[in-house]
Amino acid sequence: MPLVSMRQLLDEAAKGGYGVGAFNVNDMEQIQAIMMAAKETKSPVIVQASRGARKFAEDLYLFRLIQAAAELNPEIPIAMHQDHGNSFETCASAIELGYTSVMMDGSLKEDGKTPATFEENVEITRRVVDYAHERGVTVEGEIGVLGGVEDGHGAGGSGLEHITDPDQAVEFAERTGVDALAIAIGTSHGAYKFTKKPDGSVLKMDVLIKIHKMLPNTHLVMHGSSSVPKELQDIINQYGGRLKPTWGVPVEEIQLGIRNGVRKINVDTDNRLAITGAIRKVFAESPDKFDPRDYLKPAREAMAKVVAERMKQFGQAGHAGDYQPIPIEAIARGYKDGTLSTKPQVASR
Ligand code: G3H
Ligand code: 13P
Ligand code: ZN
Repeated sequence: MPLVSMRQLLDEAAKGGYGVGAFNVNDMEQIQAIMMAAKETKSPVIVQASRGARKFAEDLYLFRLIQAAAELNPEIPIAMHQDHGNSFETCASAIELGYTSVMMDGSLKEDGKTPATFEENVEITRRVVDYAHERGVTVEGEIGVLGGVEDGHGAGGSGLEHITDPDQAVEFAERTGVDALAIAIGTSHGAYKFTKKPDGSVLKMDVLIKIHKMLPNTHLVMHGSSSVPKELQDIINQYGGRLKPTWGVPVEEIQLGIRNGVRKINVDTDNRLAITGAIRKVFAESPDKFDPRDYLKPAREAMAKVVAERMKQFGQAGHAGDYQPIPIEAIARGYKDGTLSTKPQVASR
């Protein structure tokens, strides 16, 4: 099956009332882990690469690996997505490679750190939407800013400083025509999100629910959605790691989000933890081993286990065969003739 439009994946998820995990990749083993999980659970899936991932793996290696995944798993709809595009050029180069979806993260300036103004965000996002839709490619925008700078991306702080303003979310969706909207509700990237299990005062699920009420047909995106399970932290620390106690986003909160319009859920850190724990275990228990396959295989299996669990929890499991992929050229025609709407339905202000 060729790579699928993320818009189609999310439209189908909305019809079915489920969410779709978007898992970050940097190498072959991570792509294989996702495909193992998607096959096992019969899930459509979003695979995403950050700018850092594209640089680390080199564009062509990474893209060819995704094409191999699509060719080897024709029964699985896969969308390939640029995570946190920082400029028009980043998004355009992903589209040129064959990505079927891009995120223009105009909530930050091109440095990926300084919050942009609302008008700057609208302008750059609108420009990417025009370019991408002409080519049948999906666009995710972001309004509000995530916290943290752990991976070099983010405005810093706790994640509570730039919570999305629901009125701005409506105006942003109307003026940009994005297919999916990432909102900031108190999460941040990386392992150190919360110093205790987050309650209602920390994770702003009420803001998410309000935005969904105002924009009932808009596909919402939750970034920073790793749950940072204690079991994965414990494996790392048991085998010589030094993670400080930390809490992520509880799966029940993500499921509440899915019942309120969240269709794409970004997960990277949980997979990083699973991989690191598995590798540390082999190193600690079998210091005589030196064949990379001896630790990459358990690492790949550990990641596949986490991804399969999330696919079941998000509800995408079992939905791989629900629909036929629409060719990207037909998606482009749909945007042009208006059958694929880019005007959000606004319920109330
Ligand atoms: O954007 C956050 C993802 O976890 C990717 O992180 O930029 O270190 O590849 P990265
Ligand atoms: P986590 O760090 O919580 O996995 O978030 C990943 C993410 O939002 C990628 O865009
Ligand atoms: Zn993110």
